[in-house]
Amino acid sequence: MDILQILWLLGFQLKVYAEVLTFQGQGLTSVPPNISEAAKDLSFLGNAITTIQPSDFNDKYPDLTYLHLGYNDITSIERGCFRGTIIKDLSLHYNELTIIPDLQELQSTLKVLKLGHNKISSILIGDLNYLTQLGHVNLDYNTITSVTDGCFGGTRLWNINLEGNQLVDFPDIRAVNITLKILNVAENAIAVIPEEEIDNLEILESLSLTGNPISCLPEFTLLLPSLTTLAVQQLPLQCCCMMAWMKELSESFSIEMDTRPCVSPSKWNQIPWDQITGEMLRREPCEIDASHWIRCLNSFIDILMIEEEINVVPLM
Ligand SMILES: *[C@@H]1O[C@H](CO)[C@@H](O)[C@H](O)[C@H]1NC(C)=O
Ligand SMILES: *[C@@H]1O[C@H](CO)[C@@H](O)[C@H](O)[C@H]1NC(C)=O
Repeated sequence: MDILQILWLLGFQLKVYAEVLTFQGQGLTSVPPNISEAAKDLSFLGNAITTIQPSDFNDKYPDLTYLHLGYNDITSIERGCFRGTIIKDLSLHYNELTIIPDLQELQSTLKVLKLGHNKISSILIGDLNYLTQLGHVNLDYNTITSVTDGCFGGTRLWNINLEGNQLVDFPDIRAVNITLKILNVAENAIAVIPEEEIDNLEILESLSLTGNPISCLPEFTLLLPSLTTLAVQQLPLQCCCMMAWMKELSESFSIEMDTRPCVSPSKWNQIPWDQITGEMLRREPCEIDASHWIRCLNSFIDILMIEEEINVVPLM
């Protein structure tokens, strides 16, 4: 290697060093003002910052792309922060935010937004719709009880994580049906998955429903043609004929479920799932409420019944 190459490499390394700056775990209570303007990747993980103000970042760091503000005490991000940056990945997990911050200055750059483990209680219209490049939002372990219909519209979300919130209704994700591939709503309080909410999600590949009070799963293999990964642990499943599709999954379909998933009928409580056959499920009626049951007739039985009727007719 000649001297020019060595100098070039050294220069390259110094440049990279200047672009990636970490101020981790230094007890900072605010963003320091004197950071290199070449900063591309800035980390303030694990400090005690409480507020982000426009003067912290506006028009100072034209190359700033990655900003890590996780594990601080941030309660507010003022309107109009981050002007003149090109942030595409913003992490704010483990802070004290109660609303989704206004990130208008990042409307055409932000791709990844991490807001897990804050105290956000709802997602409203206008909270995310303007983030036209947003592909991944992580809102796990907040206290979200409501996701307003249409609140993901206008984005390019392919990955939405709402695990560990307090959702009672399945969130409205129809506005992102052409981009959404991964949805995690594990550990919420969702009891029903309405078919009309999911029947246009043609590219959804992965769905996690673990830890919700769902007793009946719609026929996902029919409704979600691209689904290959399904997590349904800790569900109070009713094992009955409407679940027979779960015994007809292809080899490439990956399903995470409990060893003994049937909470009802009680006779199957202790029976491992692999000892329950598709035929056993097909014969088991589904209880809708105390006085209503659904009996599923498979096409084989349908045909037998038609033949019986035909046989009976000539005798009459
Ligand atoms: C910024 O200023 C503080 C105190 O004024 C100093 O301790 C720190 O080293 C400075 N940092 C840089 C990157 O210049
Ligand atoms: C998205 O939904 C619309 C109907 O609302 C449907 O026509 C379209 O095929 C869907 N696209 C994908 C990729 O799921």
